[in-house]
Amino acid sequence: MTNNNHAPEKGGFLSFSIGSLEQLKELAEKVASCLKGNEVILLQGDLASGKTTFTRFLVSALDPSAGEDVSSPTFSIMNVYETENFPVYHIDLYRVKQFDISDFVGNGLIIIEWANRDTVEDNLPYLFISIDTKGDKRVFNITGSEKLIRCLKGYFPQ
Ligand SMILES: Nc1ncnc2c1ncn2[C@@H]1O[C@H](COP(=O)(O)OP(=O)(O)OP(=O)(O)O)[C@@H](O)[C@H]1O
Ligand SMILES: [Mg+2]
Repeated sequence: MTNNNHAPEKGGFLSFSIGSLEQLKELAEKVASCLKGNEVILLQGDLASGKTTFTRFLVSALDPSAGEDVSSPTFSIMNVYETENFPVYHIDLYRVKQFDISDFVGNGLIIIEWANRDTVEDNLPYLFISIDTKGDKRVFNITGSEKLIRCLKGYFPQ
């Protein structure tokens, strides 16, 4: 996993070139360690770019047994996983486009596949992860709330 660049943006910006499942797991574990359980993670990326796989690694890092329950919510729209410290609401907007998350905000971690940057309000703690597939690599571009980005950057001293 390589940390490519540091473009200026409010809250900051991180970019990783992911070449294997092992590297994806490593990134998901670092993200997981920065979470308190009240965040929203927005995942944007083509079909099969790894949104659900990233979610599975992240939930596994929070709670290994819960990780085994992670599956694509494309048809269920939302799956809920109980982890050690907080629930995870895993939502997929591929079929529905609109989904009211207000009942879950602040009550657990919300992960949304097929989200846009404007799926959540600015004042929520959030990460926006946009995945670009480039050959056999997947580039994870991450922006988000200042504290979360600072936490993640702590793992990748420049
Ligand atoms: N970094 C990676 N390295 C190798 N294989 C990967 C990587 N990320 C995902 N994959 C593989 O790509 C396939 C699709 O992954 P996944 O279902 O997570 O994508 P998705 O973005 O959730 O797809 P969808 O758009 O259907 O929701 C899976 O077989 C997964 O194992
Ligand atoms: Mg998926």
